[in-house]
Amino acid sequence: MARSAIINVMVQAAMKAGRSLARDFGEVQNLQVSLKGPGDYVSQADRKAEEIIHAELSKARPGYAFLMEERGAVEGDDDQHRWIVDPLDGTTNFLHGIPIFSISIALERQGQIVAGVIYNPAMDELYTAERGGGAFMNDRRLRVAARSKLSDAVVGTGIPHLGRGHHGRALVELKNVMGETAGIRRLGSAALDLAYVAAGRMDGFWENWLAPWDLAAGILMVREAGGFCSDRDGGQAMFDSGTIVAGNEAIHKALLKTIQQKS
Ligand code: IPD
Ligand code: CA
Ligand code: CA
Repeated sequence: MARSAIINVMVQAAMKAGRSLARDFGEVQNLQVSLKGPGDYVSQADRKAEEIIHAELSKARPGYAFLMEERGAVEGDDDQHRWIVDPLDGTTNFLHGIPIFSISIALERQGQIVAGVIYNPAMDELYTAERGGGAFMNDRRLRVAARSKLSDAVVGTGIPHLGRGHHGRALVELKNVMGETAGIRRLGSAALDLAYVAAGRMDGFWENWLAPWDLAAGILMVREAGGFCSDRDGGQAMFDSGTIVAGNEAIHKALLKTIQQKS
């Protein structure tokens, strides 16, 4: 499969950071049994991956701006382009030795996401998408699942935990969705949740309180696989609201209606 120059740049950065994360993940698995636990080690792994991505992308496209989870916003000379990066999405899984985590890199041009790469180094699954060019997992073209009834659908979500608020709202949404679907999954990496929707592994996904770096590449992935994404009000303010609902046209619509129920 021939990839465009920009996707190649992003893939190279993701794979290099992925090799670093994979090495550190091996060590984290050893540290599980130590009393201190792997906490500090994981923060270092996260920062190291971000450094690698920042260095690779700045070398290939000098002047582009960045929005990265650890560094925050980094201005560039080029005001048309911005990289949106989560160097490790699924930190809790990584910390616990669960091999479901990813690197997410998106390129925004004039405020529009035009390219996205999501890489799970533990499973060596590489998701790529370019606006108008389709979405792929490794070399396979992706298409969202065709199921049209919520009652047949398996949907992903995120569940807030200790230290995060909104437990009441999340419980209401879970109650309503569990009563109407064939199953709910909580993978622990929002970028991979969206990649799984693009790949037809999950029929839908919704979550609240996310950041642009969790969402940017995944939104493009779902759309390029023929799916729909919106915020929880059905609009397009996903970054500002931190909310997302995704699926094929029918599942997206039905899921939206279900999570909007007040009680
Ligand atoms: C988290 C993951 C998780 C989602 C959290 C995010 P992080 O990102 O995407 O699935 O439920 O809200 O913060 O912290 O692992 O980069
Ligand atoms: Ca994240
Ligand atoms: Ca992260």
